[in-house]
Amino acid sequence: MIKIYDFTINHIEEASKTALMNYNEERAVVPALPALNALPGLEDYAKNNRGVAAMDGGKLLGFFCWHEPWDGLFGLSKGTCIEAHAHGAIKQNRAEIYDRLYQAAAEKLVAADVFSHCVILYEHNAEANHIFAQNGFGRRCVDAIRETTPIPVSGCEGITFRQAGKEDAEFLTVAGNGVGLHLSKSPMFMPYSGPDTVDDTIEGLESGDYLYFIALEKDHPVAYLCLKEGGEHFAANDASVMNICGAYTLPEARGSGVSAGLLSWLMDWLRERGYPRCGVDYECFNYASRKFWPKYFTPYTNGATRRIDERINTRLS
Ligand SMILES: CC(C)(COP(=O)(O)OP(=O)(O)OC[C@H]1O[C@@H](n2cnc3c(N)ncnc32)[C@H](O)[C@@H]1OP(=O)(O)O)[C@@H](O)C(=O)NCCC(=O)NCCS
Repeated sequence: MIKIYDFTINHIEEASKTALMNYNEERAVVPALPALNALPGLEDYAKNNRGVAAMDGGKLLGFFCWHEPWDGLFGLSKGTCIEAHAHGAIKQNRAEIYDRLYQAAAEKLVAADVFSHCVILYEHNAEANHIFAQNGFGRRCVDAIRETTPIPVSGCEGITFRQAGKEDAEFLTVAGNGVGLHLSKSPMFMPYSGPDTVDDTIEGLESGDYLYFIALEKDHPVAYLCLKEGGEHFAANDASVMNICGAYTLPEARGSGVSAGLLSWLMDWLRERGYPRCGVDYECFNYASRKFWPKYFTPYTNGATRRIDERINTRLS
């Protein structure tokens, strides 16, 4: 019999084991994911009463914990995110456990005017994906990963590749703004706070937080990829993973294989520097991303979102 309680310190030990078990289930299907002994801690959720646990007597069946809600998650409403390590369920009766957990969690969240919910599900956890789709969640962000094995490409004759520097700041600015503008259009509709200036780009280059790589046709840059350490998912934060955080090809050069060529060159560059894995996150409602990235990377998360009608808490007199 499933009973729902507030998530407390007493649940942490079993919950951590469940979360690791769920990660390892995904890793069995996506072997490019790094082997991990432990996932990020759950203490903050328990101490701040931001979670629920499903129990059968003394046995933990599942748990579901959310970040401190913040204003303006995917809109004007307050929202929160449930990270991949902050929820989990045993295999038996998993769908029912998630249904009950979300019902209890959503009740608390909506009572606190938290209307925008995002849950990071493992791509191959069929029961969890099914239940959140049934609860009105839609796919939005995807984390994907690959080993830095060679990518065979053809059709890049006359194209050269290299790491970009300050001398390329003008092109990188055009390309970075190009991504922002592209994502602001239909059907993505992601507000863009730019445009960035060349000085902003130089600042990014000088910080060392971002590494840029470009493809050149007759000495003119036509495409870029941006790389950084760390990502949003804990697997992307493993020291063995470098993460792609931006890609752009000038419209007139698209479809010629230039990004594939740059990506292939980058895999060699990473491998030679001892990085065995490369990650990327993208919005699946960006058609170009959805067509491009899965050719080379294996998705391992589905960042699913639900936007609740905020009028539910409006008191009509
Ligand atoms: C995504 C993007 C970088 C791809 O660049 P590109 O140079 O056109 O890609 P390539 O020509 O190297 O294509 C490589 C493969 O992906 C496929 N592909 C790339 N874009 C595609 C699209 N829009 N539709 C269908 N397939 C696409 C190609 O067909 C090719 O596959 P193939 O080898 O089987 O023929 C480019 O479309 C772009 O700049 N888009 C706007 C910005 C953006 O969305 N960036 C990604 C999010 S950060």
